[in-house]
Amino acid sequence: MRKPIIAGNWKLNKVPHEAVLLVNELKRDLIDVEYADIVVCPPFTALADVADTLTETNIAVGAQNLFWEDSGAFTGEISAPMLKDLGVVYVIIGHSERRQYFNETNETVNKRLRAALKHGLKPIVCVGENLAQRESNKTFDIIKDHCEGSLKGLSAEEMKGVVVAYEPVWAIGTGKTATPDQAQEVHVFIRGLLEKMFNKETAQSVRIQYGGSVTPDNITALMAQPDIDGALVGGASLKSVSFVAIVKGTKK
Ligand code: 13P
Repeated sequence: MRKPIIAGNWKLNKVPHEAVLLVNELKRDLIDVEYADIVVCPPFTALADVADTLTETNIAVGAQNLFWEDSGAFTGEISAPMLKDLGVVYVIIGHSERRQYFNETNETVNKRLRAALKHGLKPIVCVGENLAQRESNKTFDIIKDHCEGSLKGLSAEEMKGVVVAYEPVWAIGTGKTATPDQAQEVHVFIRGLLEKMFNKETAQSVRIQYGGSVTPDNITALMAQPDIDGALVGGASLKSVSFVAIVKGTKK
């Protein structure tokens, strides 16, 4: 049985005092939840305050990116040891917005992933096709390329600690969710790839989240699919009412 995992990706939103207000509401409303892992991923500037507020709770903190070197002359970067020191547990790697706007490639995703694993951070690795790729029937080629390139060289044991997020780019921030069947089809494909790249036991144990316009209204239908193990939530994670409803929507 894979435990559902719901992560809120706050993207470029919320200064520390706004972030603390939000996580205090989440703490109040989600304190008893045991059926799902809950993660919030604020921007770097709010990580310290959010981590302090969530100490010894059932809500974990994630970062939205990291650099692969531990320290040195890399102006503007943030490393895995720096994140660990703040109490960060998860890290999103290879989000499509980073691939699209910041030249992220499978190679750099792989370097970040190895750095995260080396320091005991739990990676959430994002994969997904854009609209042109879906419309030209390239979805599976892109997913294969993202998975093989990003997860290259990992051992099966390391892979078991990775969460994969399938985020079709055309569904992000557009209000157009993939249908549960469309998402399930790609999740099954990803699990098949993981079986080929690692082994069956690993493929069965890895959690695959869906991301792209997830709301309280569509979470239940998505979670009813056997290979959808949670969600990576953007817009709806910025308000406690909607994020709490999404977490509660994963209860089977
Ligand atoms: P939305 O939920 O706003 O579509 O964003 C999804 C996403 O990119 C999460 O990482």
